[in-house]
Amino acid sequence: MLTPYKHEPFTDFSIESNRKRLESELEKIERKLGGTYDLLIDGEKVLTEEKITSINPGKKEEIIGYVAKANQEHAEKAVQAANQAFQTWRYTNAIDRANILIRTAAIIRRRKSEFTALLIKEAGKPWNEADADIAEGIDFMEYYARQMIELDKGKEINSRPGEYNRYLYTPSGVAVTIPPWNFAFAIMVGTTVAPLVTGNTVILKPASATPVIAAEFVDVLLEAGIPDGVINFLPGSGSEVGDYLVDHPKTALITFTGSREVGTRLYERAAAVNENQFHLKRTIVEMGGKDTVVVDNEADIDIAVDAIVTSAFGFSGQKCSAGSRAVVHEDVYDEVLERVVKRTKELTVGETTTPDVNMGPVIDQAAFNKIMNYIEIGKAEGKLMTGGEGDDSKGYFIQPTIFANLDVEARIMQEEIFGPVVAFAKAKDFDHALEIANNSEYGLTGAVITNNREKINKASREFHVGNLYFNRNCTGAIVGYHPFGGFKMSGTDSKAGGPDYLALHMLAKTISESY
Ligand code: SER
Repeated sequence: MLTPYKHEPFTDFSIESNRKRLESELEKIERKLGGTYDLLIDGEKVLTEEKITSINPGKKEEIIGYVAKANQEHAEKAVQAANQAFQTWRYTNAIDRANILIRTAAIIRRRKSEFTALLIKEAGKPWNEADADIAEGIDFMEYYARQMIELDKGKEINSRPGEYNRYLYTPSGVAVTIPPWNFAFAIMVGTTVAPLVTGNTVILKPASATPVIAAEFVDVLLEAGIPDGVINFLPGSGSEVGDYLVDHPKTALITFTGSREVGTRLYERAAAVNENQFHLKRTIVEMGGKDTVVVDNEADIDIAVDAIVTSAFGFSGQKCSAGSRAVVHEDVYDEVLERVVKRTKELTVGETTTPDVNMGPVIDQAAFNKIMNYIEIGKAEGKLMTGGEGDDSKGYFIQPTIFANLDVEARIMQEEIFGPVVAFAKAKDFDHALEIANNSEYGLTGAVITNNREKINKASREFHVGNLYFNRNCTGAIVGYHPFGGFKMSGTDSKAGGPDYLALHMLAKTISESY
């Protein structure tokens, strides 16, 4: 029996040996930067003329690697290979499949600092965030492996005298995994291994901003013994390769995490039944958020300040879970705002070369431009309290930015910015605060800071988000502890890292035998 699941501990970089290990990995990585990575189709590495260039967003001139770029011909081959491999993979033993995940997790754990260093370079993550991202990827593998072994037994149903009824799970088919760049390891791993362990075969189209870490992960899956064709690696453009895979009559499951714009488009495309398609496609679509930290007047202000700063500026606000709105009771509004501004001014921004850099760059030029544009909008809509500046000369750096006194309908209160920008709004009372918090097309995460039990109960009932946290920040869900997924336009509420997630990748089959 496997040991019970426990989440991977975070690394304490105040300990010198931990710091030194990562420093040395960062140096090693610098020496091997700029390598070439191939596609993987049916166990074969395929090099292409055209490449995706992955760069360090904190140091634009630093090239992380050149990654082969697939076209539709490659996509067709990958679908055929995945479909062929499915015919045997679907009947493999769940324990064997689970063991591939456990072994992959073990290899990653041994090479953890190397993967952390790569993520720091490729995504510009601060050390602690990169470490947590790798840990979460390991968690997904450990958690889903165990869950699959259990699910393979099926679920209890009744049998009448003279019959034997079973309720078992069976795989869906070829899965298309399209992960985001913001949890370039964790979500990429989670949305790849969940279909794999449930007996589906996978075509992984990594995010174009972070394809190198995905390529390295696929190599570890191969090392752990995944058969040919079961995992196919297909970096490429969304409009050329992504749409082709989603539309293909032989793909059965689309698992996407990313923007609302792309997610809703894929959701709609996947609903179409194309020629020679004999099934309806399943979709797992996780999108954006406009998440709120609510601060009550009966609250611990230290916790509130900490929750707002952590939720807003962790990984420069580039999380769907980021707390981009602070809604504060009028009695404590001025105090909370002033203290959050003070703390924010102490945050350091720069290339994440040491563990004490709080905020790295945003991911690319398009993100930089978009966020800077929202900052201009914010200046017109509210009062700029701190930040507001950006510098894209060497990397894509934006100062942590706070706007105060926003109207709830303001654009920066309603639209997802995906950057280090938080908008403050004042609430008359707790009910008003919840009303403002619920006034959003999104419903992903939320936090409420209060000491009042009745208000906790009220928010538990009425704050309409997939992940609701009390007296803490609204980011940083842990696999197996805080199943993650959103309501409304945040997505299909798949609850990654939760007890129901794997079942979404399978078809439930009722088998009834009469005697
Ligand atoms: N799971 C992450 C968080 O909770 C977001 O994807 O922050």
